[in-house]
Amino acid sequence: MELIQRPRRLRGSDAVRRLCRETRLSPDSLIYPIFVDETLRGKRPIEALPGQFHYGLDAVCEAVSDCLAAGVTHCILFGLPREKDAVGSSAWAKHGVVQEAIRAIKAKYPNFYVITDVCMCEYTDHGHCGILCGQSVDNDKTLEVLAKTALSHVEAGADMVAPSDMMDGRVAAIRAVLDEHGYETTPIMAYSAKYASAFYGPFRAAAGSAPSFGDRKGYQMDPHNRKEALKECALDEAEGADILMVKPALSYLDVIRECSDAFDLPMCAYSVSGEYAMIKAAGAAGLVDEYRIMCESALSVFRAGANMLITYYAKELAQAIQKGDIG
Ligand code: PBG
Repeated sequence: MELIQRPRRLRGSDAVRRLCRETRLSPDSLIYPIFVDETLRGKRPIEALPGQFHYGLDAVCEAVSDCLAAGVTHCILFGLPREKDAVGSSAWAKHGVVQEAIRAIKAKYPNFYVITDVCMCEYTDHGHCGILCGQSVDNDKTLEVLAKTALSHVEAGADMVAPSDMMDGRVAAIRAVLDEHGYETTPIMAYSAKYASAFYGPFRAAAGSAPSFGDRKGYQMDPHNRKEALKECALDEAEGADILMVKPALSYLDVIRECSDAFDLPMCAYSVSGEYAMIKAAGAAGLVDEYRIMCESALSVFRAGANMLITYYAKELAQAIQKGDIG
């Protein structure tokens, strides 16, 4: 055979394969979700997410030291409040669960980067992501409480806020309130293309945030749509978002690719609870190699164009990168 091109030449050894990798991963691009429960002391395993924990305010620094030991330097915080009501008022309480978690982390680890999820569903007694008007979420009334919540996080020391509610105009509303209070340098990571997904199931059990009636299809995106993702990203960019996000990740790699091609802002992807749970369960059943599937799934998200990844596997992935198994 007179073959001029032999792609196998670049696959012949580990050294040449590592030289020619097109996708590079770094622990710097990983964000670890931390769940803080106001009613808890110490830490407690999350049944719906094997290997993950709820942390009490007294133990949240343990979550951070575990991250740092693995090489992970960024987190996103989720709060489980003691009290819920119709409007989710504990979301913006000065001494609320997320606000106190930020203070505890920053007192001990001032350089650990803290992003906060901004949403109402963990704080409302009905579990929807905003203020209800009848059976549906009132968009414009919700903007006010989202902005107050984001401001309270930043006042407590959050480095970045990440609205995940999918109300129209929330990035503009949050940007305006932060700027008004002198926080014009605090970035907003917008959950821009957030789909109404069944992959959030384990998270809702973990965060106690499942809606008590109906579903989230009136505000989260329809999984059939791709152009709508481009529209949401364009709106968030115009409203002042600093980072865009696609969520979930694995079933939406096409959306990640299109949005990262179409926009110059950094692109985040969220590999959500159901993605993690599927790999965990299949691995535990001996059906797949959990470690290799974890690695391959994560790198596919970066290959699709993501610049950073929120994942429950952040610590294990950081170690896989350091070992050279990926990246
Ligand atoms: C809050 C929020 C959710 C997730 C992140 N922020 C749940 C939802 O929208 O129902 C899901 C994360 C995951 O599944 O890992 N709105």
